[in-house]
Amino acid sequence: MNVLVAGGAGYIGSHAVRQLLAAGHRVVVVDNLFRGHREAVPAEVPFQQIDLADTPALADVLARHAIDCVMHFAALTYVGESVEQPLWYYTNNTGGSISMLRAMAQSGVKRFVLSSTAAVYGEPVEIPITESCPCQPINPYGRSKQMVERILADQAAADPQFAAVALRYFNVAGAAPDGAIGEDHKPETHLIPAILQAALGRRERLTIFGDDYPTPDGTCIRDYIHVDDLCAAHLAAMEALRPGELQAYNLGIGRGYSVREVFRAAEQVTGRAIPVAMGPRRAGDPAVLFADSQKIQRELGWKPRYTDVVPIVETAWKWFQAHPDGY
Ligand SMILES: NC(=O)c1ccc[n+]([C@@H]2O[C@H](COP(=O)([O-])OP(=O)(O)OC[C@H]3O[C@@H](n4cnc5c(N)ncnc54)[C@H](O)[C@@H]3O)[C@@H](O)[C@H]2O)c1
Repeated sequence: MNVLVAGGAGYIGSHAVRQLLAAGHRVVVVDNLFRGHREAVPAEVPFQQIDLADTPALADVLARHAIDCVMHFAALTYVGESVEQPLWYYTNNTGGSISMLRAMAQSGVKRFVLSSTAAVYGEPVEIPITESCPCQPINPYGRSKQMVERILADQAAADPQFAAVALRYFNVAGAAPDGAIGEDHKPETHLIPAILQAALGRRERLTIFGDDYPTPDGTCIRDYIHVDDLCAAHLAAMEALRPGELQAYNLGIGRGYSVREVFRAAEQVTGRAIPVAMGPRRAGDPAVLFADSQKIQRELGWKPRYTDVVPIVETAWKWFQAHPDGY
């Protein structure tokens, strides 16, 4: 297929580009490079520096490259930032997705794969979280994505040819095993890269936000999925798109690790003691979040290859050792 990867210069999008190429697809990347890296996109892949807001430019790329499917990773991704600047998040994430869908409608492109998030569930009513759990996001970031899911459902209802899938990621981590591309967010708010930056001396110490949660060691528990497993699910979901439908699938490994367990894994992998400080709980952090990913396993035959956090941290460490300051 000819696939447009929006946000393909970002962390997850750049890993998806590699897998799509390896599977024999033709890939085109659009990204405004606000938080992406041109170096993360292979030189041979056509790249256009375009903002999602620019509907005519998107429509032009879709038509010129005879795109069959859009994989949409482009978004702002920080919960705290979304609370402080909600209009920016709704404009960029929800408005940007509408702009992409309008460009697709103009160009007759009917397949859409959305980066959604476990943040659409908000405070979980049950653990593990299944796709049938109610979506009650508790911050603008989660709501900006939930709205896109709803728009996709409406579009699929209105256009029997339109096929979409929303992939609800839990915590994405790790890097390409060859260490060539990896995570380079500025600022970095994700736990595993932040711990590894501390291990490299790029941060003085790392703060654990709360050790009085009702969990075995008092710290929050999260589900970490390797970025390559996540991208493999995108390829499977793209192949299985069904016209006139929006499907939603959780993507996690179905097992949680506490913050302290992740620290221990990082100390094991790096062989270094990681300086840590204790801080208060952050507002809106549920004690335990992990996925039930049985639906995608059952329906699409996808399975995570990385089922333990240690090898996930190993791949991230390989990237950070080679690129301690990012790209
Ligand atoms: N990293 C995670 O753990 C995680 C978890 C859940 C969901 N997600 C979702 O996955 C997607 C990718 O996340 P990531 O961690 O790779 O983020 P990232 O910031 O590394 O990548 C996003 C890319 O989108 C680009 N972008 C943003 N707004 C744009 C716009 N208006 N026009 C053009 N390009 C734009 C950025 O420049 C960046 O390259 C996001 O949609 C995010 O919400 C990520």
